[in-house]
Amino acid sequence: MSKKKTILDFIKMKKAGEQVAWVTAYDYPTASFAEQAGVDMILVGDSLGMVVLGYESTIPVTMEDCISHCKAVRRGAPNTWIIGDMPFGSYQVSNEEAVKNAVRFLKEADTDCVKLEGGVRVAGRIRAIVDAGIPVMGHVGLTPQSSGQLGGFKAQGRDVKNARAVIEDALAVQDAGAFAILIEAVPPEVTAFLQKKLSIPVYSIGAGPCDGQLLISGDLLGKFQTFTPKFVKKYANCAEVEINAFKEYIKDVRSGQFPSDEHVYHVIDPIEKFEQLFKEFM
Ligand code: KIV
Repeated sequence: MSKKKTILDFIKMKKAGEQVAWVTAYDYPTASFAEQAGVDMILVGDSLGMVVLGYESTIPVTMEDCISHCKAVRRGAPNTWIIGDMPFGSYQVSNEEAVKNAVRFLKEADTDCVKLEGGVRVAGRIRAIVDAGIPVMGHVGLTPQSSGQLGGFKAQGRDVKNARAVIEDALAVQDAGAFAILIEAVPPEVTAFLQKKLSIPVYSIGAGPCDGQLLISGDLLGKFQTFTPKFVKKYANCAEVEINAFKEYIKDVRSGQFPSDEHVYHVIDPIEKFEQLFKEFM
């Protein structure tokens, strides 16, 4: 079992040009499999709303949802750096609420840090949480919690005006004290510039090569069927595997093939004694 990585390892990896490979997870088994496979870190994303809870967006996800799923992930991956994703509404209102909710992730769910979406406009929140002693990862580019304002789940930074906004956001996140930043759905040219410009590790989801890559486990494993972003590479088709397994089971039950002798517990007293017992109840 490899040792849990820390912020210092992530900084060293950036300097050495070593890639960080990380995924999202929302439950005990997925976290355990990801840790056994050797991922460098796990994000308990508020994407859990869409991937696991069946909502159409991440907006309905609550602090209670996040804490509960973070706890399950921590139990499954005790030796992995875990990022708790702050849900919509948990940091928008005030610095005080942002700090209070960030503290909950560490105290109640044992996450190693928190992530929140936005750049210039949340820099004050990031600073307040960092000042409370909590490591923060920033998230700029396509920020799903503000997809309404962005006009949908759309790539960002594709024209010069918008790229300037992404760059300003990333600089604000670094200046506010974040230990790393995630860039989502931004052209690789802009990401490459930010990777050189920023001293903190720069990670990508759909933003091309940089200091490491994140994929949503539901996409990577082929479980999320609603839509597949262009940047996703599928490494398995779990939906097909699971549907086929359920189909086989239904067929076996309906045809009487399941359960067979190997799937039952046999009596340990002589059968005559059981027949006597049954008679008593007749
Ligand atoms: O919630 C999440 O999984 C995320 C990714 C989309 C980056 O924030």
